[in-house]
Amino acid sequence: MELAIRGGAKAVTADASEQWKRPVDEEKKAVCELIDRGFLSGAGHGPPKEFEDEFREYIGCKYVLSTSHGHTALASAFFAAGLGAGDEFIHPTLGGYIGSYAGALHMGATPVFCEPDPKTLLADPQDIAKRITPKTRVLAPVHYNGRVCDMDALLGLCEKHDLVLVEDAAHAHGCEWDGVKIGNLGHIACFSMQGIDPGNKPVTAGEGGILCTNDRELYERALVYCHLHRKIPEGDELQNPVYAKLEAQFLGWKWRAHPLGIAVARVSLKSLQARFDNYVANREQLREKIAGLPGIEFVHTYPKAKGAELYQGMKLLYDAEALGRLSRERFCEALQAEGVPMQPSGFRDMEHLRSIFTEDMPGLWGKGHPGPANIPLPRYKKGDYPIAETLNDTILSMVGWIQAADGLIEQVGDGIRKVVEQHKKLL
Ligand SMILES: Cc1ncc(COP(=O)(O)O)c(C=O)c1O
Repeated sequence: MELAIRGGAKAVTADASEQWKRPVDEEKKAVCELIDRGFLSGAGHGPPKEFEDEFREYIGCKYVLSTSHGHTALASAFFAAGLGAGDEFIHPTLGGYIGSYAGALHMGATPVFCEPDPKTLLADPQDIAKRITPKTRVLAPVHYNGRVCDMDALLGLCEKHDLVLVEDAAHAHGCEWDGVKIGNLGHIACFSMQGIDPGNKPVTAGEGGILCTNDRELYERALVYCHLHRKIPEGDELQNPVYAKLEAQFLGWKWRAHPLGIAVARVSLKSLQARFDNYVANREQLREKIAGLPGIEFVHTYPKAKGAELYQGMKLLYDAEALGRLSRERFCEALQAEGVPMQPSGFRDMEHLRSIFTEDMPGLWGKGHPGPANIPLPRYKKGDYPIAETLNDTILSMVGWIQAADGLIEQVGDGIRKVVEQHKKLL
C-alpha cells in the first residue's frame, strides 16, 4: 500500500488518544471531604500520614516522607546524605534535570556530570566510575522516564567508595529492580507527584513529592531538614538525640505536602499498579510488532529492570544509516502521516549546557558571590560530553497507552513497518 505521505491510505484509523480516564468524581469526593473536615494543613498525622503509610506499604520500604515537591524531597535527601561545600555528586547530563539537583547546588556541592549508556540512555556506571574522586560523596542517578538504572552497578560503586545513592525516582513509581520496588533498594529514593493523571508523574497530587528510605538515620536527617512543625506520631520519636533536641524547630523549611494534593494522590496511588501493568502490556505488544525492523528499536532495559514510561512516553533509538541516511525528521513526518504519533525528539536540555555552567551571569548570585552558597559552579562547554550530545539527535519519542482503542497498537506497529519497508521512497 502506498505511503500516506505520498497520498496512500493511513495505517492508523483507530483513535490514537489515551482511553483511560482518571476517576474525577472520586478525586472531588476526597478533596471535598477534607474541606468539609477543615483539614487543610498538617503533616505527620491525618491524611498525609495515612498516605505515607499507604505508599510505604506499596513500596515495601521502612520510612516515607511526603513533601511539597519532588525537588524538595531531593534537597532533603542531599542534606540527609551529608552533602555540603567541597563535596561532589555525580548526575547524568542526558536525562538529568536541574530541579533534581538544585538542592545540592544550594548546599555548595559541585555537580560532576556523567555520560549515558548509549543503549539505555541512563547514567552509565562505567563512566561514573571514571569520575569518582576523593571528593565524591553522592551518586545521584535518575530513573528517567520510568526506566530503571543499573542498580547492581550503582550500589556496587557506592559500597566500594563509601558513597550515598540518592535516586531521582521522580518518574519511577512502581518500577522494579530484580522484583524489588524502587524506593526499597538503594539508600534514598525521591519521587515527584507533579501534575495530574494520566501523562504526568505516575502518582499525581498536582504538586508533591515523596522520599523513601530504609535507613533510620537518613530518614531522621531528611525529616529535621524539611518538616518544620511536623507532628511526630507517638512511638516514632526522633531517636538521634541531636535531632530530638531540635523539637519543632527543625531546620526551618516547611516543605510539607498540601493535604488537598495528598487527597488526589491517594486516589492516584490506588490505580497505579493497574495503569503500570496495562501500559507495559501495550508497550510489549508494540515491541513484538516492530522487533527486527532495521533503523528503529526500543531503548534497551537492563535485564533485572521493570519500568513503565508513564511519564513522557516511549523512547526509541533511530539509526539513519540503516535506512539509507533518511533523516529522523523525514522519517517521523512519514510516520505522522500514517497516524503514528512519533516525534523526532530526545531530551530537552543537557545539564552541562545549562547557562549557569556555560555563561557568566553577573548579578545572579548577589554581590561578589561566585555561585549559590558562595561556591563557584564548574564550567562546561559543548563537546565535553560527546556521547550524550550525539545520542540526543538519534532518539525518537512516542506517547504510550494505558488503555488503547481497539486495534490501535496493531495499527501503529503496521504503520512503523510500512514506513521502514518503503523508506527508499522518502530519500
Ligand atoms: C527527573 C526529575 N527530577 C525531579 C523533578 C522534580 O519534581 P517536582 O517538579 O515535583 O519538584 C522532576 C520534575 O519534573 C523531574 O522530571
